[in-house]
Amino acid sequence: MGTDDQKVWDERHGSREGREEPSSFLQEIFASHGWRIQPGRALDIATGKGRNAIFLAERGFQVEAVDISEVGLEEARRRAAERNFSVTFRQADLESVEFPEAAYDMVLNFNFLLRSLVAKIRKALKPGGYVIFETYLIDQGVLRHPRNPAYLLGHNELLDLFRDFRVLHYREGKFFESGEEAYRAGLFGQKVK
Ligand SMILES: C[S@@+](CC[C@H](N)C(=O)[O-])C[C@H]1O[C@@H](n2cnc3c(N)ncnc32)[C@H](O)[C@@H]1O
Repeated sequence: MGTDDQKVWDERHGSREGREEPSSFLQEIFASHGWRIQPGRALDIATGKGRNAIFLAERGFQVEAVDISEVGLEEARRRAAERNFSVTFRQADLESVEFPEAAYDMVLNFNFLLRSLVAKIRKALKPGGYVIFETYLIDQGVLRHPRNPAYLLGHNELLDLFRDFRVLHYREGKFFESGEEAYRAGLFGQKVK
């Protein structure tokens, strides 16, 4: 990982426009649970071009967003500035990053799976803080990319990873996201202690 990952993702981000529309799962969570969510300090894991980080900033969160790709982050900074939102975009390799403990009211993780990071996400949340985690499910392999099981969630895996959280919403299946159908799992949970 590391430099190779950065090169691959810099090229990908440089060759695609990338969606500006926030994740539909994230929008759904705010539509049904927005009443319980107070703005605070948030962290967006693997932010890409920042669509979900900007969504939170629009809702009054102070957002820190991390990604390995400087090309993606440059576009994210441009998009945030265009909308007059202040987001702290930081370049880092999530394989080796450290987060402050009990510091965030919300952590987002979309379209990215690094299992070794989950313990750090759990620690980085304040008690009472929320995680919104959504990415591809193991069934996606029969449809198209991504097919590497290392990047695909198992059935019920998110429920296991956050088993001591209060699960406020969970879904698994084939959903329409970012212009196409894909097998995905998503969880909205609250750290209890
Ligand atoms: C599929 S994109 C998802 C972007 C964003 N979360 C979204 O849903 O729009 C995956 C992102 O992970 C980032 N990434 C991949 N490996 C990484 C690593 N080791 N450390 C930090 N970011 C990484 C890539 O640069 C890319 O922006």
